[in-house]
Amino acid sequence: MTEPTAQPPLRQAALPTHTLKGHQPRGSLEFLRGFVRNPAQVGSITPSSRYLEQRLVRNARISEARTVVELGPGTGGTTAAFLQAMSPSAQLLAIELDGYFYQHLRGAITDPRFGLELGSAQYLIDYLLARRMRAPDAIVSGIPFSTMPPLVSQRVAAAVARVLRPGGRFVAYQVRAHVADFVSPHLGPPDKEWEVVNMPPVRVFTWVKPAR
Ligand SMILES: C[S@@+](CC[C@H](N)C(=O)[O-])C[C@H]1O[C@@H](n2cnc3c(N)ncnc32)[C@H](O)[C@@H]1O
Repeated sequence: MTEPTAQPPLRQAALPTHTLKGHQPRGSLEFLRGFVRNPAQVGSITPSSRYLEQRLVRNARISEARTVVELGPGTGGTTAAFLQAMSPSAQLLAIELDGYFYQHLRGAITDPRFGLELGSAQYLIDYLLARRMRAPDAIVSGIPFSTMPPLVSQRVAAAVARVLRPGGRFVAYQVRAHVADFVSPHLGPPDKEWEVVNMPPVRVFTWVKPAR
C-alpha cells in the first residue's frame, strides 16, 4: 500500500488565528465518507467516542503538557478534546494524511494553539523542526498500525521514540495490538487498557519514555 498524499514538509499550513469554533468538529458523516474512500487508512467507520477522548486526555496527561502532537486527527473530535484540556500557553500539532480531512480541519478549528500538517506521521521529526517546536510532552496516535505498510509503521515508531521528551507519554488507540510490536522495541512494555464505550471497542496503549 502506498501513501499518495504523504509529502515531506514543504510549507506550514496557514491557519486562521481565532479560537475553536462554537460547534464541535466531530463530522461523523465526513468521517464515514473518509472510511469509504480509504478504509485501510482511516481504520474506523465512526470518530472516537467522548469516553475514548477523555481516556486519551487522562492517559497522555494533556492538561500538563506544553507541546502535544496528534497523529491522525481525522475530523477533529479528539483534537477538540485535547485543545479543551490544554493550558492556554500549550501548542498542538496535528498531522493528517487525508486531504479531505485536512481541509475539513482547517475550516473547523481556528484555535491559535493549533497547527496542522498534511502528510504522513513518518515525517514527524521534519514537521517539528520546520516549526521550531520543542520536544513533545505527549503524542497521541489513532493511525492504524495494523494496516499501514510495515516500513511506515517502523518509521513512525522510531520517530515518536526519538522526539518525545524523556518522561513524555505516547498514547495509541487501536482495535488490534500491532502498534506494540513496533513501539515496544523503542519504549519498552506499555500499559494496556480497553475502552469499551466506543464503536468499535479499542485497546489503549500508554508508554512513558524513560528519563535519561
Ligand atoms: C481511526 S482514525 C482517527 C481519527 C480521530 N483521531 C478520531 O479518533 O476520531 C485514523 C486517522 O489517521 C489518519 N492516518 C492514517 N495513516 C496516517 C499517517 N501515516 N499519517 C497521518 N495520518 C494518518 C487517517 O486518515 C485517519 O484520519
